[in-house]
Amino acid sequence: MQLLKPGPQHIKSYLSALARGWHDLPTGSTAENVKSKIREIQDHTSEFLDLFDDHAARALPYLLPDKSVAYAIPSIRRWIWDETRLEYCGTVSLRWQKGSTELPPHLMGHIGYSVPPWMQNKGFASTGLKEILKVAKVQGLPFVHIVTDIDNFASIRVIEKNNGTLIEKFTKPEMYGAGLALRYKITTN
Ligand SMILES: CC(C)(COP(=O)(O)OP(=O)(O)OC[C@H]1O[C@@H](n2cnc3c(N)ncnc32)[C@H](O)[C@@H]1OP(=O)(O)O)[C@@H](O)C(=O)NCCC(=O)NCCS
Repeated sequence: MQLLKPGPQHIKSYLSALARGWHDLPTGSTAENVKSKIREIQDHTSEFLDLFDDHAARALPYLLPDKSVAYAIPSIRRWIWDETRLEYCGTVSLRWQKGSTELPPHLMGHIGYSVPPWMQNKGFASTGLKEILKVAKVQGLPFVHIVTDIDNFASIRVIEKNNGTLIEKFTKPEMYGAGLALRYKITTN
């Protein structure tokens, strides 16, 4: 398994995953959003690939679960890739604000990850997180925060396997539905 900045040759496998009804788009995205994402990737492939390294926060604003608009901040996105089977296995992303460990209120954690159900429990997210922590270090982040719902036991395990320290249990902002969540800290050294 490797973390990959995808090229045109990797897109078919990702589109197959989207075609199965799964997606790694922002929480709350509809089937219609997924369909338009597929069209966007097919029609504007190079722009889609270009945004995997988005240091200048060029990505378009997107909608939060409460439909309020969120603006992009600098980010690096990578695919978790099975180089033996040449298959897409998940996405991991890092976002940060230049020269700061703070995040804007609409972003609860520096790192997010998502693995399609048929790829889960094979260690992909755990290894993906381990690898993106190295990227965070290169970007000058001494630590990252990761937020997960209190009942997301797989995600909690992924964080704990990467030496996450629980900082607090808190109520998510209204824009994320106000449920209970856990905030973890992981140092990048
Ligand atoms: C969370 C998620 C990324 C995990 O991906 P994954 O590739 O299956 O994770 P891994 O295989 O690396 O590790 C999962 C761990 O959780 C454990 N686990 C899975 N389900 C569990 C459960 N219900 N209770 C307790 N542990 C569980 C697995 O056994 C494994 O631990 P182990 O390696 O010690 O056996 C995946 O479930 C997902 O995409 N969920 C939806 C999106 C999401 O929640 N993203 C995280 C947002 S913070």
